[in-house]
Amino acid sequence: MELIIVSIVLLATLYFLYSVLNSGSSSSTKNGKQQLPLPPGAKGWPLVGETLAYLQGSKKGVPEKFIAERRDKFSTTIFKSPLLNENMVFFCTAEGNKFLFANENKLVKSWWPKTFEKIFAPSEKTTQGEETMRMRKVLSPFLKPDSLQKYIGVMDSETQKHLKTYWDAKEVTVYPLAKKYTFAVGCKLFLNIDNPETIAMLEEPIRHISSGFVSSFPVNIPGTKYHKAIQAAKKIRTDIKHLVAQRRRDILEGRAPKSPDILSHLLMETYENGELINDSDIANKIYGLLHGAYDNVSALLSSIIAYLAELPEVYDRVRSEQIEIAKSKAPGELLNWTDLQRMKYSWNVACEVMRLVPPTQGTFREVITDFVYDGFLVPKGFKIHWNAFATHKNPKYFPSPEKFDPSRFEGEGPVPFSYVPFGGGPRMCPGKEYARLKILVFMHNMVKAFKWEKVFPDEKITTDPVSAPSKGLPVRLHPYK
Ligand code: HEM
Ligand SMILES: *[C@@H]1O[C@H](CO)[C@@H](O)[C@H](O)[C@H]1NC(C)=O
Ligand SMILES: *[C@@H]1O[C@H](CO)[C@@H](O)[C@H](O)[C@H]1NC(C)=O
Ligand SMILES: *[C@@H]1O[C@H](CO)[C@@H](O)[C@H](O)[C@H]1NC(C)=O
Repeated sequence: MELIIVSIVLLATLYFLYSVLNSGSSSSTKNGKQQLPLPPGAKGWPLVGETLAYLQGSKKGVPEKFIAERRDKFSTTIFKSPLLNENMVFFCTAEGNKFLFANENKLVKSWWPKTFEKIFAPSEKTTQGEETMRMRKVLSPFLKPDSLQKYIGVMDSETQKHLKTYWDAKEVTVYPLAKKYTFAVGCKLFLNIDNPETIAMLEEPIRHISSGFVSSFPVNIPGTKYHKAIQAAKKIRTDIKHLVAQRRRDILEGRAPKSPDILSHLLMETYENGELINDSDIANKIYGLLHGAYDNVSALLSSIIAYLAELPEVYDRVRSEQIEIAKSKAPGELLNWTDLQRMKYSWNVACEVMRLVPPTQGTFREVITDFVYDGFLVPKGFKIHWNAFATHKNPKYFPSPEKFDPSRFEGEGPVPFSYVPFGGGPRMCPGKEYARLKILVFMHNMVKAFKWEKVFPDEKITTDPVSAPSKGLPVRLHPYK
């Protein structure tokens, strides 16, 4: 009993001290600016801040609650919360998103929590932000719509192959299969690998990565998820490096693949100084690409399959759109660009799923110069979080936000910057078009082949850290004859 009282007194004292120390920063006279208040917000416990409340909301499938509660409490467009042990300012409106995206590298720059940096940054010297920017430049030629059009046929045949091999059962668990699928198509398109054993070898370590990086107490000791994630990232980069070296030998010996993949292109890329990019840099880029493609797309596919099981009238409309397209093709003819442009309703359905359960909730920025937003000072060094749930679930932008309604994306569509599953501005997801094609090709083949129902009718989609069905989504398949 005494021990408990002592602990409480001790904690209260710490909290008091922390508040006193913190209160000094509630206004600023820097650069002779008039005293402007910082955004309102709870101070929370030192160290842990509100991270736990935030993560718990996500795990329960209601990440928007954390944001909505604070936004309504303070009635402001931004608020402060000590998330991830940082001075974190949340931007909660479409205007706020627009402001952030428009001021990339002017007022803010990309920032990743330290735990992400360790796993993703290839070396101590480059940061994740710099690395992704470089990668963007090298990869953007392949991820542009005109380049991707060439790959639609390959995606289609890979999808058919995958469904035949792995969905040939009365009952399957969707999320792990969707990961397998996403990864296999990535390997085929980026590396020209279709040997199942090589794919399995590469896929094994990547599994550990996403579960490791949002751990709230990132301690790199053996046995922790975080440690596993770091080890996994190392292993996969080494594996890919071996593949890159192998490909160089193949090319020298005249055994280059007939259809050039992304790796063949990367092997001919140069740095700004004209030197060829070295193997470890190529491996890093491919790793980034495979990883970016992996969780996000597979989570989204699983969520789409879950919604289609719950909403038969939506399923029927998707199926009739896809059957119409299938009928217009010769037997065995693969999908092409024109066909994908016709999948309008199906894409609106995918968009509505991404509104309700955005695969990536949002990302972070670091303030590089003091600025004022809505009357509040946001000082240099503060971190900013934009979160898709903040606008996607706000009735101001999406009336009856819980209602599944693909028609929101018809005509003018949503208010600009209220719908941000891929972010926006110069840092907007470069894989957006690739993801769109892959998802539509998958939906086409899925509804053509099956109807399905959830094994656990009340299985929820939770966010941890990607939004995906909490039990992996087992479904019963009913193939069409
Ligand atoms: C449904 C699928 C996907 C979603 C929802 C998604 C979402 C996002 C979001 C929200 C960002 C952050 C933007 C920001 O910070 O403002 C991002 C960045 C990025 N995405 Fe995706 N993504 C998806 C698929 C992909 C795929 C398939 C690839 C690769 C082929 C990819 C590659 C990247 C890269 C390289 C970045 C970093 C860009 C930068 O920081 O400059 N993504 N994505
Ligand atoms: C590859 O190039 C990077 C610079 O972009 C350099 O840091 C790295 O040491 C090089 N690696 C090898 C194996 O040469
Ligand atoms: C989704 O893609 C973005 C961009 O590559 C990446 O930063 C993020 O880690 C991905 N999400 C997950 C959970 O893998
Ligand atoms: C795609 O295929 C359809 C019929 O199968 C054809 O009418 C159309 O011209 C093709 N489009 C392209 C871009 O090849």
